[in-house]
Amino acid sequence: MKQLIISGACGRMGRMIAQEAADKGFEVAAGVDRAGEAYASFPLFPHFDSLPAADVLIDFSSPSNLETLLSYARQTGIACVLGTTGYTDQDLAQIHSAAQALPVFRSSNMSLGVYVLRTLAKQAAAMLPGFDIEIIEKHHNQKADSPSGTALSLLEAVKAPDQRPVFGREGKTCRRQAGEIGVHAVRGGTVPGDHEVGFYGSYEVVRLSHSAQSRLIFALGALKAASFIAGQPPGLYGMEELFASGHHQV
Ligand SMILES: NC(=O)c1ccc[n+]([C@@H]2O[C@H](COP(=O)([O-])OP(=O)(O)OC[C@H]3O[C@@H](n4cnc5c(N)ncnc54)[C@H](O)[C@@H]3O)[C@@H](O)[C@H]2O)c1
Repeated sequence: MKQLIISGACGRMGRMIAQEAADKGFEVAAGVDRAGEAYASFPLFPHFDSLPAADVLIDFSSPSNLETLLSYARQTGIACVLGTTGYTDQDLAQIHSAAQALPVFRSSNMSLGVYVLRTLAKQAAAMLPGFDIEIIEKHHNQKADSPSGTALSLLEAVKAPDQRPVFGREGKTCRRQAGEIGVHAVRGGTVPGDHEVGFYGSYEVVRLSHSAQSRLIFALGALKAASFIAGQPPGLYGMEELFASGHHQV
């Protein structure tokens, strides 16, 4: 069994990873969380100091944890799966730099279905030039970042160089301009994550959407990523590489 460290172990995603790990061939060597509430048989640490040796780390915590996480990973050479969202451009530069020395897997959405949505949306955008594109995402009322990392990655997939995002609309002079891509965030209840990319033409609309029915899909995707990345050479990996490797079927 591969040894796993869960960062953000006491959170919604961390607990789900802990619950599914054994079934997917991992033993949880330790959890790291500043909340510090031990709820399972593995040891829980408030910091990355004095952790037992492990093969791979999965992180679902917050961007504020990134610097200490990467410093620990550089010292130990551990493979990292980063599921946290809301990174700044500076954070992303740090991740790129760490990936020169370590295998790092990052995806703002660990669901296999969302990767397929992204691929199809990119294809649709190329096939429907001139259609107005609007992205709508919905999440539970505790989500910190907005719009979601997934909405931003869908935007990246469909955006042509002469297009620009407009985040929400309000006011009296909001008539849609050429080159806009609307991005809208809905927050409420317990929704694990819905994403829709709409292509609005004259008298016809194409809508591509994905609905997460449980956080389990993110946990299972992250565990697939962890088994893929442990033992890989240094580099930055994502869903594209996971699918190309065939590990998404494991
Ligand atoms: N990539 C994906 O597929 C995906 C899916 C769901 C959530 N997420 C992202 O994962 C992150 C966590 O989501 P969640 O719903 O589990 O959140 P959560 O708030 O339930 O859990 C986060 C945990 O991390 C801990 N934590 C936060 N900052 C820390 C720090 N600096 N040091 C130590 N511990 C720290 C908190 O104590 C908490 O227990 C968010 O960024 C969320 O957007 C990504």
